[in-house]
Amino acid sequence: MVELLPSILSADFANLARDVAAAERGGGTAIHVDVMDGHFVPNITLGPPVVSSLRKVTGLPLDCHLMIENPDEFIPAFAEAGASWVSVHYEACRHLHRTLELIASHGMEPGVVLNPGTRADLILDILPMVHHVLIMTVNPGFGGQKFIPFTLEKVGFLARIRQERGLTFRIEVDGGVAQDTIAAVVQAGAELLVAGNAVFGSGDAAQNAASLLEAARRAAGE
Ligand code: DX5
Ligand code: ZN
Repeated sequence: MVELLPSILSADFANLARDVAAAERGGGTAIHVDVMDGHFVPNITLGPPVVSSLRKVTGLPLDCHLMIENPDEFIPAFAEAGASWVSVHYEACRHLHRTLELIASHGMEPGVVLNPGTRADLILDILPMVHHVLIMTVNPGFGGQKFIPFTLEKVGFLARIRQERGLTFRIEVDGGVAQDTIAAVVQAGAELLVAGNAVFGSGDAAQNAASLLEAARRAAGE
């Protein structure tokens, strides 16, 4: 089943409750929350206090994508704030296995994220312990960037490995997912589809979400 995860990075931060409600009306089934620290990526966004506020205005899972250094230090605070899924970058974790266990031990669903330049076979050993693998289809840091096509090979690779090994992790894509790219990501094997600019960039967010989801379902044959 394909799912749409609207990314609030492109929402109006002064009207997050309104924008999250629109995303939900449009069929979004989790809210993607981009956490940036100005070190791991060249941008700063939000942290646990905003997650805590979002938790009060939606019942949807909050999919927190940590683009930060030293994620271990902040995992308890995200749990306390009400985060549901927490993903950390392979590139930011010196002890990835330990970090994923820390996330799970706080009652959250652990995920691992790969930048476009990082090979997917580096995470083979930890696949049984993750709820999702997030393949970045742009370099992280900003919304509204251009989709990088070769990243889809990693989506296909992971979908094959999952089937061969009987694993259950979900495959998520993030960056440049829009009307012109969504069919390709779904056909490659992705099912959790993050979209920021394509939902909140212009026009009606609920309608944008609904038409993206429709295109994704069509491509998936659902
Ligand atoms: C980028 C973030 C994305 C971002 C995607 O670093 O991780 O979640 O919101 O934005 P779009 O869909 O606009 O490319
Ligand atoms: Zn993201």
